[in-house]
Amino acid sequence: MKLFSGAVLGLETSCDETSAAVLVGSQLLSNVISSQADIHEKWGGVVPEAAARAHVEAVLPVIDQALSDASVQLADISAVAVTNRPGLVGALSVGVSAAKALAFVNRLPLIGVHHLEGHLLSPFVNGNAVPFPHMALIASGGHTELCLVAAPGKYEIVGQTIDDAAGEAFDKTARLLGLGYPGGRAIQEAAQGGNPTRYSLPRGLSGDTLNFSFSGLKTAVLRLVEKEGGQLDVRDAAASIQEAIVSVLADRTALAAETCATEGITLVGGVAANLALRARLQHKAGQLGLPFVTPPLDLCTDNAGMISLAGSRRLALGQRDGLDLETLPNAPLPTE
Ligand code: KG4
Ligand code: ZN
Repeated sequence: MKLFSGAVLGLETSCDETSAAVLVGSQLLSNVISSQADIHEKWGGVVPEAAARAHVEAVLPVIDQALSDASVQLADISAVAVTNRPGLVGALSVGVSAAKALAFVNRLPLIGVHHLEGHLLSPFVNGNAVPFPHMALIASGGHTELCLVAAPGKYEIVGQTIDDAAGEAFDKTARLLGLGYPGGRAIQEAAQGGNPTRYSLPRGLSGDTLNFSFSGLKTAVLRLVEKEGGQLDVRDAAASIQEAIVSVLADRTALAAETCATEGITLVGGVAANLALRARLQHKAGQLGLPFVTPPLDLCTDNAGMISLAGSRRLALGQRDGLDLETLPNAPLPTE
C-alpha cells in the first residue's frame, strides 16, 4: 500500500473516544486515546451532547500528548487526517474543526477519512501484510458488516446486521445483567469460567444468509432476567450471551470468506477486542487454510492510529480536502 512520505497527524472524535496519533510511513509513533466511558456509564450508552462537550475539553491535551509521545513538534507534521464521517455530528465536528484549524495555521494538507475505512485498514498499521482479496468483519458499537476488500480502497459490503450492531448487543445485554459499560468488555470479564451452554439464546437469522440479527437476543435476555430473577447465574448468562454473539459472527464470516473465495480474513472494530471472538475466528480461518489478521487491542476500539493510516493512503494518491470539509453523520463507505 502506497503511503504519504511525511508525518501524518490523525484525529478521531466520531463517538466517545478522543484520539490523536502520529504516523510516519506505516509506523505509529503515538496513538493517544482518551475514553469517555465513565461519563456515559450511568446512561448505559453514549449521550451525544455529553460526548461533544467532553471532546472539546480533551482534544487539545490529547493532540499535545500525541506529539509529545511521538517526540515530535507541530513543525514536524506534514499533513492532517481526520474522521469526518459517519458518526455523531456534534462529536465529529470537534475533531474536524481542530483539524481544519491546524491545517490552516500550519499550511498543511488536510484529508477527511471515513471511520469504517479506518477500521478496515487498521490491520495494516505498523507494516503488517494481509493478502487481497480478504473478508473483513467490522464489528463495533454502531456497525456489524462483512466487507469484501478487493484492494485498499475497493470495498463491497456483502452482509450486515438488519437491526442492532454486535457491540450494541453486548452493551444492551450487559445493562440487563447489571454489568458495566461498555458492555463488551464487561461481559467478557463476567463470562470467565462460565458455562456457555447453560442458557439457550437465539442466534438470529437462520440459513445461509450473510446478514445478522441481534434484536431477538436482547429480548430473550430480558425474558431470562425476568424469569430467573435472583436465581440467574450472571457468569453463565454472560458466557451464554458471549457464545451467542461470537458463534454467529465467526460462522458467518467463515461462510462469507468461503463464498467470496477470499485469500484471508480480518477482524476489526471495537468488538474485535473480544478474546473469544479472536480465538474462534483464528480457528475458523485455520480450518479454511486462510491467514487471519486482527490488530492489537488498542487499534480495535476507536483510535486515531487507523485514521492516520487511511488518511496517509489517500494523501499518497494526491487526494486533498479543503477547509469546507463537511461532517456527515451518515455516509456510505467510499469505494474506488
Ligand atoms: O469501534 P468502537 O470503539 O466504537 C464504535 O465505532 O462503535 O466499538 C465500541 C464497541 C462497544 O459496543 C463495546 O461494548 C465493544 O466495542 N467492545 C467489546 C469489547 N471491547 C469493546 N465487545 C466485546 N468484547 C470486548 N472485549
Ligand atoms: Zn469504530
